[in-house]
Amino acid sequence: MIVVSNLELRAGSRLLMDEVNFRVASGDRVGLVGRNGAGKTTLTKALSGQTEPAGGTISRGGEIGYLPQDPRTGDLSVLGRDRILSARGLDTIVANMRKAEAAMMSEDDAVREKAMGRYARLEADFTSRGGYAAESEAGSIANSLSLPERVLGQPLDTLSGGQRRRIELARILFSGADTLLLDEPTNHLDADSVLWLRDYLKTYPGGLLIISHDVALIETVVNRVFYLDANRSVIDIYNMGWKQYLQQRENDERRRHRERANAEKKAHTLMAQADKMRAKATKAVAAQNMARRAQRLLDGLETEQVSDKVAKLRFRLRPQVARHR
Ligand SMILES: Nc1ncnc2c1ncn2[C@@H]1O[C@H](COP(=O)(O)OP(=O)(O)OP(=O)(O)O)[C@@H](O)[C@H]1O
Ligand SMILES: [Mg+2]
Repeated sequence: MIVVSNLELRAGSRLLMDEVNFRVASGDRVGLVGRNGAGKTTLTKALSGQTEPAGGTISRGGEIGYLPQDPRTGDLSVLGRDRILSARGLDTIVANMRKAEAAMMSEDDAVREKAMGRYARLEADFTSRGGYAAESEAGSIANSLSLPERVLGQPLDTLSGGQRRRIELARILFSGADTLLLDEPTNHLDADSVLWLRDYLKTYPGGLLIISHDVALIETVVNRVFYLDANRSVIDIYNMGWKQYLQQRENDERRRHRERANAEKKAHTLMAQADKMRAKATKAVAAQNMARRAQRLLDGLETEQVSDKVAKLRFRLRPQVARHR
């Protein structure tokens, strides 16, 4: 669970978003959308705890699995398989078992003897922690992400950038995190892996926030849409699936257009009337009132635009920005 209150994020001095409030709970599968450079990656970085927000608070319950858009560089000497297993703390024990196995080949009886004892203890520990089942689960995830055995046995620094990113994705999925933050997870995936990921995520029991240009993936997986509007520096929250969200946006835009046209027509008529009346001294006051009414109609448009969006959302419109729409 992630709870965000009054969040403010900036890129340098530029405001990206302000007064953002939402929560991502178990069963929430959020698609985060918005144009390039809107601040989606910046938001996920802050949600993961990798960066501090300019303002507001982010509280996290449970474990977070974060796949950054740009791969992180860490210790690249570890094997792909161990990197994945590290998500559940099984990497050390597996590495030690491997060492014991090697020592069991020794010519020296005493060394062999000791190694066998060590191996037995390690294996008992591994088994009691559900290691074999976990290992096969990790293997199956890796396989689905087109990471064959051979690749898993290689150190990370001998792998391509795409392979490394798939290892990272496998590690996060294997971790069983309560909340997943996935920033463009399908980059570097082949078509089959994308299909597999789609199925995997659509039944993910925890919380999920995903950024993806893959419309089919978003459409299948998400049950909420967060639209980051870079012009208004806000997030519009749509508590609905993708198709409905698109429909809702279109409806909103059409209705807004209609309302604007109507109001403008009325205002125009009133203004014309006021102009005629102004000519007569006795009607000057009435003319002024009428002009004011027309102005209020036009002003009302902004309020209309602001309040007609869906669900819980927050607006911080600078009026001069709104007036230009
Ligand atoms: N290291 C940085 N220093 C200064 N500004 C940055 C830095 N990284 C990103 N920005 C700015 O922050 C803004 C938000 O970037 P961010 O990467 O969060 O956008 P995004 O929505 O993830 O875009 P995309 O869809 O291209 O991934 C961008 O306009 C960018 O210019
Ligand atoms: Mg990004």
